[in-house]
Amino acid sequence: MKSIHTFLKYLYALTFILSTQFLNAQERKQIKIDASRKLASVNPNMWGVFFEDINFGADGGIYAELLKNRSFEFPKPLMGWQIQKQNAVEGDALIINKAEDVANKRFLRIDSKGNLSLVNEGFRGIGFLKDATYSFSIMYRNNNKPVNIKLELLDEKSTLIGTQNLSLSASENWKTANASIKSTSISQSGKFRLVFEANVKIDVDMISLFPENTWKKRDKGLRNDMVQMLADMKPGFIRFPGGCIVEGTDLANRYQWKKTIGPIEDRQLLINRWNTEFAHRSASDYFQSFGLGFYEYFLLAEDIGSEPLPIINCGMACQFNSAEVVALDQLGPYVQDALDLIEFANGDASTTWGKKRIELGHEKPFNLKMLGVGNENWGPQYLEILSIFTKAIKEKYPDVKIINSSGTDPEGARFNLLDNSLRNSKADVIDEHYYRPADWFLKNAGRYDSYPRTESKVFVGEYAVHADKAIVGAERNNWQSALASASLMTGLERNADVVTMASYAPLFAHKDAWQWAPDLIWVDNLSVYGSPDYYVQKLFATNKGTAVVSCTSDEKNLIGQDGIYASTVIDEKEKILIIKVTNTNQKFSAIDFNLSGKTFPNQTINVTTLSAQQPLTTNNFSTPTQVAPVSKSAKLNGKKLGFNLEPNSFTVFKIKYK
Ligand code: AHR
Repeated sequence: MKSIHTFLKYLYALTFILSTQFLNAQERKQIKIDASRKLASVNPNMWGVFFEDINFGADGGIYAELLKNRSFEFPKPLMGWQIQKQNAVEGDALIINKAEDVANKRFLRIDSKGNLSLVNEGFRGIGFLKDATYSFSIMYRNNNKPVNIKLELLDEKSTLIGTQNLSLSASENWKTANASIKSTSISQSGKFRLVFEANVKIDVDMISLFPENTWKKRDKGLRNDMVQMLADMKPGFIRFPGGCIVEGTDLANRYQWKKTIGPIEDRQLLINRWNTEFAHRSASDYFQSFGLGFYEYFLLAEDIGSEPLPIINCGMACQFNSAEVVALDQLGPYVQDALDLIEFANGDASTTWGKKRIELGHEKPFNLKMLGVGNENWGPQYLEILSIFTKAIKEKYPDVKIINSSGTDPEGARFNLLDNSLRNSKADVIDEHYYRPADWFLKNAGRYDSYPRTESKVFVGEYAVHADKAIVGAERNNWQSALASASLMTGLERNADVVTMASYAPLFAHKDAWQWAPDLIWVDNLSVYGSPDYYVQKLFATNKGTAVVSCTSDEKNLIGQDGIYASTVIDEKEKILIIKVTNTNQKFSAIDFNLSGKTFPNQTINVTTLSAQQPLTTNNFSTPTQVAPVSKSAKLNGKKLGFNLEPNSFTVFKIKYK
């Protein structure tokens, strides 16, 4: 196997040399770059991420809780749990409803003479790492008689790989106890068992297990590896919490941010709309615990240096589902939620919601600058509702930019109605979404070259190349798709005066629990890898520059002539010219970049390439970086940079100037 690999590498290197020599003899494509001809400023927050709890992105994903249905609030209250009995009888463990408490209605009552254990299966099993420590907590009350329990980590074969005893001291009132457990070996898909001593009477709730090593070691925090992937991208903004989950299948199941803050046991569980959305990928155990709620989203944005971009429900449920619309005379509370959210993020201690944020531990404002009203809503009803929201928000917070929906598609009657009306009303930002095949992306690389240069800016809030339906799951994140995205993104960058923000969608997918593919980052219970699209996004975000400069061939923008797409920015602080270019040909393309407008000293320049020999190449858990940036160097002598672009490649050149 290894020798085949070495042979292929040799063959490839040989092809490279031969092609280079061959191409040197051919006519080379001339690209003119004028680094002093500034076309637009680049929004420092242009390239961001879009987080939605889809594909087990939050619960079972970035929210590091390992136990499913920790508070017995799922409609089937024992879903995820198995009660194991030895000499115990029916009725020894019962779910009790406390009618007075709507947010956390249920608990488990154990009254048993025999031995009883509770086993939790995790979301799709539980991942344990060797020598890692796990933090356990439980809420209980026990009629003033201490209770001994044993905590057990089990691997996939139910072998014990970690154990700890815990004594629950006498308490008539609800109380929380904590313990740490160390895992002695690795398990990709383990279980957790809680063993009660015999003759026990106890009520239990919020039974929880987290890895100790969460992001920033926060108690009940986020998965370190997943957040790190985001932080590495240096995203300019994070759009959250959706997506369709903001809308809900009906208004009763819409996302309400106020229900997602404060003590986690008081955050009322809600069905995740992706639970039932796709019959072929249904997930009957998909719910939103809101352990990752709005406060945590704001913290996450702050941690990774991104602007927060929350989206709120506008009084319309998903128009593909119930299409419920709130009556205009009932819209008040929805608008108030938007105003209160801004106050929560930015208000001081003298305001109701600012005070709440401070009480939660964040004295400093989160400095919210933009807010999305509705997700993929459309039609005259949306416009009517939007004008009410806009008036109320602008009256109180004139500087907060409003992100407006242009519906589900980037063309057609729905889009035209919204786009025209929003432009006429000088809307701040119009959110466009496109999930389209690769050739649509290539054809649309020039989409914004002829867009109106009006006040209204464009946010490409969700986009991804959707490969042929025959390609399934993570295979859809193949190099062909990522290369087409990169090609289109050169068009977004070139038009940075029109397109001020963009984010790929969706962000995360669990390999055993996804509903929607492609997705930027794939995870299992223990690891994470970036798709080829991830590296495309990262290369744009980490090479964003400060201003777009002219880059043409035969006086035209590079939007696919001879299979080449390109855009160029300068970083005025670092004094670097950054060229991004895709070669969508199956063969090498010989290019001469003719540089002008600045002084370019002779130098060794940094060249980063993403490529794959086969268009359908993907990354995966065993070879996570098959398509990943490779750095090389090239020599610049004078004002002409000659380069042979690899077949099917995306290349970033960084050239210093004076
Ligand atoms: O990104 C997945 C879904 O696609 C989003 O929830 C929705 O906005 C769009 O239809």
